[in-house]
Amino acid sequence: MRKNIVAGNWKMNKNLQEGVALATELKELLASEKPNCEVIIGTPFIHLATVAELLKDSVIKVSAENCADKASGAYTGEVSAEMVKSTGATYCILGHSERRMYYGETYEILKEKTLLALANGLKPIFCIGELKEEREAGKQNEVVKAQLEGSVFNLSAEEFSKVVLAYEPVWAIGTGLTATSDQAEEIHAYIRSLIAEKYGEEIAENTTILYGGSCKGSNAKELFSKPNVDGGLIGGASLKANDFKEIIDAF
Ligand code: PGA
Repeated sequence: MRKNIVAGNWKMNKNLQEGVALATELKELLASEKPNCEVIIGTPFIHLATVAELLKDSVIKVSAENCADKASGAYTGEVSAEMVKSTGATYCILGHSERRMYYGETYEILKEKTLLALANGLKPIFCIGELKEEREAGKQNEVVKAQLEGSVFNLSAEEFSKVVLAYEPVWAIGTGLTATSDQAEEIHAYIRSLIAEKYGEEIAENTTILYGGSCKGSNAKELFSKPNVDGGLIGGASLKANDFKEIIDAF
């Protein structure tokens, strides 16, 4: 049985003190009520150690938003998967469209990052999704297939079974435009069929596929009601504890 997950992606928001305050508030909100899904918060690197320590006896897991494509050495300013793991974080968001778009992350780079995350015991939350023009041209299936084949489909079956996927149509990220639940279901089912072709039915059935892109309290229930939508990767609505809790409560 695959896991349902609600994961926050803080992006480049919150200084350390604000991040600690948000994590503390969320921890308190979830202390009395056990959520019906796994809850993860993805924070900037500098928050990881403090937030992971703060949340170590809570149900909330901690994720990085990126890691280096090299193991260690003279790469000024980079943060390795091993360093991320040493903070107590257990997940790592990889391949977010903002990283692909603004930082030139290619399929090859993302393949390396995924391998390093896995080698260091981190579970990747691997993002895929098409641009607006690609959706308008009806190319969304082609795009997500190429993104999978270029990176995570190079993994062994054992490695791939540790990966969480997040389908995030770029036109829906931070725009207030959400994919309809039918659009999400259609492409999630397609993604699962690609996994089944590559790794077999069992792994496909066990892979968690999150939806991301303007997911919020008001639409989460409808999106999560679809059989192939196993939760969400949440940007804007993860920056306020109550908004995030509302999405968790959709399960
Ligand atoms: P959003 O971002 O919820 O603010 O649209 C989602 C994401 O980029 O992961």
